[in-house]
Amino acid sequence: MTDLSNAYPTHDPAWVQQMHADHYLQSWLKQGGKPRVIAGASGSWFWDTGGKRYLDFQSQLVNANLGHQHPKIVQAIKDQADKLCYIGPAMGSDVRSELAAIMNEITPANITSTFFTTGGAAANETAIRLARHYTGRTKIIARYRSYHGATGGSLSLTGDPRHHLTRADMPGVVRMLDPYVYRLPTGHSDPANCPVAQGGPHLEELLMYENPNTVAAVILETVVGTNGIIVPPDGYLQSIKETCEKYGILLIADEVMAGFGRTGKWFAVDHWGVQPDIITSAKGINSGYVPLGTMSVSTNLHDWLRNTPLPGGLTYAGHPLACASGVAAIRAMQEEGTLAHATAMGEIMRSELHKLAGKHPSIGDIRGLGMFNGIELVKDRETKDPLVPFAAKGDDAKPMSDMMGYAMDQGLYLSFFSNVIRLTPPLNISEEDLMTGLERLDRTLDIADRAIEG
Ligand SMILES: Cc1ncc(COP(=O)(O)O)c(C=O)c1O
Repeated sequence: MTDLSNAYPTHDPAWVQQMHADHYLQSWLKQGGKPRVIAGASGSWFWDTGGKRYLDFQSQLVNANLGHQHPKIVQAIKDQADKLCYIGPAMGSDVRSELAAIMNEITPANITSTFFTTGGAAANETAIRLARHYTGRTKIIARYRSYHGATGGSLSLTGDPRHHLTRADMPGVVRMLDPYVYRLPTGHSDPANCPVAQGGPHLEELLMYENPNTVAAVILETVVGTNGIIVPPDGYLQSIKETCEKYGILLIADEVMAGFGRTGKWFAVDHWGVQPDIITSAKGINSGYVPLGTMSVSTNLHDWLRNTPLPGGLTYAGHPLACASGVAAIRAMQEEGTLAHATAMGEIMRSELHKLAGKHPSIGDIRGLGMFNGIELVKDRETKDPLVPFAAKGDDAKPMSDMMGYAMDQGLYLSFFSNVIRLTPPLNISEEDLMTGLERLDRTLDIADRAIEG
């Protein structure tokens, strides 16, 4: 008989919490917290060991684009595990080649080949290294309101406060302002006359100081995710791309969050017909069931790489389990009409949010594309004074953290950054679940209204 005397009591949620607090290091947080212990998940819902159900209005880390436990993805992982769990990146593999071919199919026409990584940071890391080798230049221009990952280079490109926290300091990063139409740079009120919101003119000015011949690439989140769901005005990305082309600078579109249907198209660049030189992605490619990221490059770059080694590599590049899940997820999205559904649900969501704005004076701005939405909360709509300061923490962020806690008690899983609540449910959420979430959000927003009433 098996001796179970040393077996851990993993069935006991209190034990799971204690070990989490004592021996597990949690990303980005102070350690020692005891989390909710999750027992299972299905579709847009997950539940804890006490049986309480939560509607996932975040899609976890904005990656569960097809919700939880999608049967086609789960089956593909099982089938691949039976067949071949791992084979080195230089070997041929059916699912690896199939996913590469699908990526060629769904990315913009100029993008034809893909390097598979273990996530978004590694994709961005490889992209900037490739841009530096290809151009022979070192500087990379990135924006303030951005998150590009937690490796040395990607974190140095990241403009959000975690950049300071971690002292990431890869040399050669130049910062650019964001096309944040709700809060234009001081002195500007009209995006059409604002060089930053137009894109190219602001970039030109920076290049005048930096010397364009020293700049390898501009990297940007096509639609900013973590830092507050910022959709660029029409014409912005085209203008940035034209300026890059003028100086032989590569454009890297970080679509780690915005890609794979999140905005209602395969990639957010598709909304504006822009063809970047490199697209990085991860998350929604396989709804996060197995770690997977991509760096997809233009034919020009691919041709150059026929004579120059790729400046990067990973033990798990093109991992068969990840590729199988990616193929299954993309095929499921095609078969199930996920992009059209996300577009329709996004429109319903924003129209319902506008109704909520009629009730909640704390709602200052509603913005988004497809199922990539956010509401920005203010003390006063006229002055746009934010409900909490930029990157507020602790007591300064209290109304926001109170709302997250209350929503969780109501069975609604939300997230925020500064004074913005991000609303990014699974793309295949039912209209009924969407409305349930919005009703719970409605009650949650009373907390913000009370905070501004004093
Ligand atoms: C836009 C963007 N880029 C890169 C990353 C990093 O991806 P990963 O955590 O898979 O390394 C993220 C993660 O949230 C992201 O949102």
